[in-house]
Amino acid sequence: MIPYVTLSIDGALIKAAKGTSVLDVAIEYGICIPHLCHVPNLSDLGACRLCIVEHVVNGRSKVTTSCTLRVREGMVIRSNTERIRHLRRNIAELLVAQAPNSRAIQDIAVRCGVKKVRYPFRNENCVLCGRCVRVCSEMWQAKAIGFVGRGKDRKVDTPFSQPSEACKRCGTCIDLCPMTITPCDGPMKPGEEYLCGKCESQMMEANSSPDQCIWCDLGEGFQCGRY
Ligand code: SF4
Ligand code: SF4
Ligand code: FES
Repeated sequence: MIPYVTLSIDGALIKAAKGTSVLDVAIEYGICIPHLCHVPNLSDLGACRLCIVEHVVNGRSKVTTSCTLRVREGMVIRSNTERIRHLRRNIAELLVAQAPNSRAIQDIAVRCGVKKVRYPFRNENCVLCGRCVRVCSEMWQAKAIGFVGRGKDRKVDTPFSQPSEACKRCGTCIDLCPMTITPCDGPMKPGEEYLCGKCESQMMEANSSPDQCIWCDLGEGFQCGRY
C-alpha cells in the first residue's frame, strides 16, 4: 500500500503519496507553479529555479525549488507570496535575457509578470535546463548527449563532439527543448526588451478570471497538467 502524507499548499490541505515532489502534487491539484526544467516522470535537476516556493518550518520560511522538494507529513508550502513572485519574476527575466528568442521562455516570463527585461540580451541557444540530456538517458537509455565544460563554457554536446552511435534518432531531445517549442517570431533586439503581444493578451484574459484555468497555452510543451 502506498503511504500518504498530508501537506498544505497555499492553505489547501492536500493528501499526496510519499516521495512525490511538491511541484508534481501542486500540478496535480491545479496549483499553477511556473516551471521550465521539470519533465514529468524524469528526474529533477533544479536547474531553472522558476518553481521556487517558500517552505515554512517552525515559523521560518526557506526558499527552495519545489521540483526537488519531496512531500512530508505536515509540510507547509507557500507558492504565491510577494517574496516568491518577486524572486520568480527576476529569475524569469534573467532567462529571457539569456535566450530572448525562445517563445516558450517568453510565455513563462509573462506568466511570472515580466513586462520588460532589464538585463542585456545574450542570445544563447541553450539555457542548460537539461531536459534533452535527461530524456535521452532516462527515457531512451541512450546517453548520446550530456553536459560538458564548466561555468560559461558549459554546454550540451555528444562525446568528443562527434556524432554519437548511441543516438536512436528519436527526436525527443528536440521536442522537449524550450528553444524549439513554439519559437518566437523573431529575436528581440537591444532597445526592444518588451515581451510579445500575444502573451500580454493571454495574461489580460487570465487576470480577468484569476481563479480559473483559462487554458492559456502557457503550459503547452511543459505538461502543466491541463493538457
Ligand atoms: S535523438 Fe538521440 S540524442 Fe536525442 S533523445 Fe533521442 S537518442 Fe538522445
Ligand atoms: S539544448 Fe535545449 S533542452 Fe537541452 S539543455 Fe539546452 S535548452 Fe535545455
Ligand atoms: S522546474 Fe524546478 S528548478 Fe526548474
